Amino acid sequence: MGRWWPAALLGCAVAVVAVLAAAVVECAVTYDKKAVLIDGQRRILFSGSIHYPRSTPDMWEGLIQKAKDGGLDVIQTYVFWNGHEPTPGNYYFEERYDLVRFVKTVQKAGLFVHLRIGPYICGEWNFGGFPVWLKYVPGISFRTDNEPFKTAMQGFTEKIVGMMKSENLFASQGGPIILSQIENEYGPEGKEFGAAGQAYINWAAKMAVGLDTGVPWVMCKEEDAPDPVINACNGFYCDAFSPNKPYKPTMWTEAWSGWFTEFGGTIRQRPVEDLAFAVARFVQKGGSFINYYMYHGGTNFGRTAGGPFITTSYDYDAPIDEYGLIREPKHSHLKELHRAVKLCEQALVSVDPTITTLGTMQEAHVFRSPSGCAAFLANYNSNSHAKVVFNNEQYSLPPWSISILPDCKNVVFNSATVGVQTSQMQMWGDGATSMMWERYDEEVDSLAAAPLLTTTGLLEQLNVTRDSSDYLWYITSVDISPSENFLQGGGKPPSLSVQSAGHALHVFVNGQLQGSSYGTREDRRIKYNGNVNLRAGTNKIALLSVACGLPNVGVHYETWNTGVGGPVVLHGLNEGSRDLTWQTWSYQVGLKGEQMNLNSVEGSGSVEWMQGSLIAQKQQPLAWYKAYFETPSGDEPLALDMGSMGKGQVWINGQSIGRYWTAYADGDCKGCSYTGTFRAPKCQAGCGQPTQRWYHVPRSWLQPSRNLLVVLEELGGGDSSKIALAKRSVSSVCADVSEDHPNIKKWQIESYGEREHRRAKVHLRCAHGQSISAIRFASFGTPVGTCGNFQQGGCHSASSHAVLEKRCIGLQRCVVAISPDNFGGDPCPSVTKRVAVEAVCSPAA
Ligand code: GAL
Repeated sequence: MGRWWPAALLGCAVAVVAVLAAAVVECAVTYDKKAVLIDGQRRILFSGSIHYPRSTPDMWEGLIQKAKDGGLDVIQTYVFWNGHEPTPGNYYFEERYDLVRFVKTVQKAGLFVHLRIGPYICGEWNFGGFPVWLKYVPGISFRTDNEPFKTAMQGFTEKIVGMMKSENLFASQGGPIILSQIENEYGPEGKEFGAAGQAYINWAAKMAVGLDTGVPWVMCKEEDAPDPVINACNGFYCDAFSPNKPYKPTMWTEAWSGWFTEFGGTIRQRPVEDLAFAVARFVQKGGSFINYYMYHGGTNFGRTAGGPFITTSYDYDAPIDEYGLIREPKHSHLKELHRAVKLCEQALVSVDPTITTLGTMQEAHVFRSPSGCAAFLANYNSNSHAKVVFNNEQYSLPPWSISILPDCKNVVFNSATVGVQTSQMQMWGDGATSMMWERYDEEVDSLAAAPLLTTTGLLEQLNVTRDSSDYLWYITSVDISPSENFLQGGGKPPSLSVQSAGHALHVFVNGQLQGSSYGTREDRRIKYNGNVNLRAGTNKIALLSVACGLPNVGVHYETWNTGVGGPVVLHGLNEGSRDLTWQTWSYQVGLKGEQMNLNSVEGSGSVEWMQGSLIAQKQQPLAWYKAYFETPSGDEPLALDMGSMGKGQVWINGQSIGRYWTAYADGDCKGCSYTGTFRAPKCQAGCGQPTQRWYHVPRSWLQPSRNLLVVLEELGGGDSSKIALAKRSVSSVCADVSEDHPNIKKWQIESYGEREHRRAKVHLRCAHGQSISAIRFASFGTPVGTCGNFQQGGCHSASSHAVLEKRCIGLQRCVVAISPDNFGGDPCPSVTKRVAVEAVCSPAA
């Protein structure tokens, strides 16, 4: 029993609200060393992160339903301060930021909420969730014992808690919120701050607990979380974690389902076998709360991506993909894990496990309680299968895997044995390439005619833009004498070196782009050095500094600089070098097209656009493109193929789809095994391809026809005629199931006949609105290979293809039991056989 929560709060009390005369079920949420208790019951809870602004409100219900179908109990989200309070005291809770609607949507689905208020949230979100204005509060210092910061943090936390309370959203009021979070991963940071860090975290805990939500608070990665706040683990594995007090439950707030991507980097994937292994390992150790970060990653629309260089896609290789489609086998294999663990729930929450050794790298974790016995058999060896004996029975454990036995006898799940289907996704065009494009060139020549400000020397970018735009122009002029050697046909052309704190830099001289340079997420700084075309007389040097998402993590990142810090030096003149750093510089925030709102329907009418063939004639950087398109039919998710363009931003009907950049992924895609300790760079994909080619276009942002598409291209040289809309859908589904697959499920035993349930089965399922149109491969025997390149093995039943065709063609889903009877006999008795199938999914007729 959680000694920090009043006994009176235990259990659910039914209160009759006099005014409405309606019964409201008020749930106390408490905790003890075994678990979080809801209605007085210890629970094993599976949770998944879905961040509301990373999808559109019309997607929420579907996403949450898919999470529920996947066996989740809880939806976890951060709260996004900079989205909610764009200027001090002016709040925004509409559209994608409609937090109350999101929480109520979860409630409607019958799930709980873990609300991570932060307000520091990291999350690869711009500025870690802090509004940029916060940096300019006098005397502020982020995330430490600093009065201005604490006042602001308390103000926002109170605002959110107050809002949730007034809508009765805490479980103590009958709502779905069972847990909250204050701060985020402060532990490592706090250590750097010493006593001030300790004072701050104590204050934060006290402040949060004082808000009296009636539900526990959590701090992740904070070993010093003061009572009654629960400290929780984040990571790829958390089985080594124990809470800081023996009376707190073992919670995992971020089980990383994959990883985020950076422009120029590869896609980071995490095999589900390893994720399931990690979760089972945590549960067998006594863990009782697991949150997948992310369960649906979604999209960093607009300029919300953190950084620098976090991609617009925040897909995360999550069980639900960026577009809201189920990713298989991740979703279903985890679902089976959840069902298996839930079958053990009573035993897991009642007793501590007894651990016995079954071999050099094998163990049994046994939970023997009066209500039953559950066992987890683990093989930590990453190279070989293990045969173990447990309770006088033999079990075979694949490498790096855990088998779950809810009755200490029958294996209902093995983390490395994936019996569910794999889906392959495709992006297919819809003829939108026939868009009629028009172009408007940003006027670089007239820059500095009316500068925002003029001063001596170089200014820090954020101090000038306050992040109202990614772009800041630094403009100066240099006088060049006609007697310069390089103008007389002698010597090398002059060059310009520019040092910038990041993130990207385009160098213009007399309106012409001379070159560009980019930092990286690891090192944001830029050292540009390139030849420049100078003429006799006055030359205008215009440096366009581009921010690509503000930092979201790092000690006092609010003090980190962005933009041209200098020195800026001209080399190769007769005098040698000329330092321009301390000249007079003029500043212009944003591009002209931004100021004219060219991205909106109204604003785009305010300039003359170049039409038709003229567009292709002259390629120029900083060009705006616009076109109209019709909404593609159907309900598949949509994406824009930007693979033909360079770098910039894109809008549809005035809504920002995000930043795009056709940066090619540099990495190591040699393939990977699920076995062995996982790290983010272990399983990479997409080497040599654009890190992000497709950009999610939410259907709810479209009107039936004449949708305005506006593209701002920084680099020039792109081909707008190749920009196209694509539909995303499942192209094929595969299954590869062994006849001794452990899907002899106890929950099936209860509902099916003995004979039927004892057979392993192949389940194939195309997406909603699709049906199976062809069987590309089928083999009952000993097939080899993986989805997309299966081949027959030494044993093969000749009827395999015909059987699958007969059972599946024309259907959205089909099930075929793996038995010789179904395939006209046994092609190789005494050999363990499998069925491997690849089925093509097409729009249903
Ligand atoms: C965690 C952090 C999350 C997110 C994650 C990486 O450390 O708490 O907010 O940034 O890393 O995706």
